[in-house]
Amino acid sequence: MNQVGVVADAGVQSKGARLATEASADASVAQAGSESKGHKGSDTQPFRLNQSDLSDLPQLPSSDLLTSRAWVEVDGAQLRENLRRLQARLSPGTEIWAVVKANAYGHGARLVAPLVIAAGAKGLCVATLAEGMELRQLGLQAPILVLGALNTWAELRQALAAQLEISLTCSQQIPLLCQVARLAGRPVPVHVNVDTGMTRLGIPWTEAARLWGEICRIPELQACSLFSHLATADEPGSPALEQQRTRFAQVVAQIQQAGDPLPILHLDNSAGALSHLQGHYTRVRLGLALYGLPPAPHLQVPGLRPILRLKARLTHIQTVPAQTGVSYGHRYVTHRTSRIATLAIGYADGIPRRLSGRLQGWVGGGLIPQVGTITMDQCMWDVTERPDIQVGDVVELLGPHLDAALSGLQVQAWADQLGTIPYELLCGLSARLPRLLVNPGV
Ligand SMILES: Cc1ncc(COP(=O)(O)O)c(C=O)c1O
Repeated sequence: MNQVGVVADAGVQSKGARLATEASADASVAQAGSESKGHKGSDTQPFRLNQSDLSDLPQLPSSDLLTSRAWVEVDGAQLRENLRRLQARLSPGTEIWAVVKANAYGHGARLVAPLVIAAGAKGLCVATLAEGMELRQLGLQAPILVLGALNTWAELRQALAAQLEISLTCSQQIPLLCQVARLAGRPVPVHVNVDTGMTRLGIPWTEAARLWGEICRIPELQACSLFSHLATADEPGSPALEQQRTRFAQVVAQIQQAGDPLPILHLDNSAGALSHLQGHYTRVRLGLALYGLPPAPHLQVPGLRPILRLKARLTHIQTVPAQTGVSYGHRYVTHRTSRIATLAIGYADGIPRRLSGRLQGWVGGGLIPQVGTITMDQCMWDVTERPDIQVGDVVELLGPHLDAALSGLQVQAWADQLGTIPYELLCGLSARLPRLLVNPGV
């Protein structure tokens, strides 16, 4: 059994938040009661649940509540191990900044960010202002770079107030950044994004060295680093990848020739760092590999393992005769007397509906097949062959037991079936799944 440690995401509420939830529950119950004419009191008096009714409710231990339905577990010890193994693959002295955008690729940024910093990552990358602010509100002191474009006065003001570092993505941002710096009375930390071929954000590579020189002479800007992002690093032998590397190196050489200060440089994401074993510049920005997934089949690192497990609990089991339709559309019809179990997880939690009838789960030491259409909050499983399975049992939907039983990473298998990539599936794990730390290892 894994130890369930710190709980750092959904389900953890401050006292204030708890009271707010209770107040809104109170309001919504009152509303529901008035619509249904109430089952308590007369037909004309809406049913109201008051605070003392709520305090009489039985209090379950929070860990039971968090795992009563469906949840994500994050293996803290394995995250540290992944970071250690990746660091060992990089050129000496290269620092790792952990990419924790999109809720740390669905793993839970509030949980992952402090862990990864404690494990040795030197900084964090987020995509949005709100993501950065959420991490600052946790009290994290580490540098946080917002990778996305911040183009408005309000965004830049907020970012500076939250001590976030900014991607300079186009030269038009500079006057606004200077105004924000003057108002705040301190320089804005900027990381200059150079477009070497991604064609998404950034200063064209042909202008980057000149602009870098200008930025270094603007007192309102603190030039922290120069970076670019690779478009095809996961493709073996990609000419576009070599072109991006060459362009970035040319920008660096031009800066050196101009005699301007040579900034901290970063180019590689997971695939870039793993496909190119020398010269990682000063820093790498790693996402997927830290979470333990290879960014491409040819970029495996021994000992790197997924840190995420997706689990849910069986909430109902029934025996039905042959020819019984199961779930919406009756797309599955039993062909024998069947024991059908209901699992409390559905597409609103991030299990793609298009995987209906194609999932396998692992429970009590064996596999079970999912049957019928996956619904918003629940899905059904055929447990006819498994009389040992009971209501309350936990089914692993992604995790090491399932990967071992099916000889491959299931998140990759899901992605292959859907014509997508594991990134999309992980990011799709919804906010309503609590994120729990297992194996804190310290
Ligand atoms: C700018 C930037 N850097 C780094 C990363 C990390 O990529 P990966 O998860 O492949 O390591 C991303 C992810 O999309 C990114 O957008």
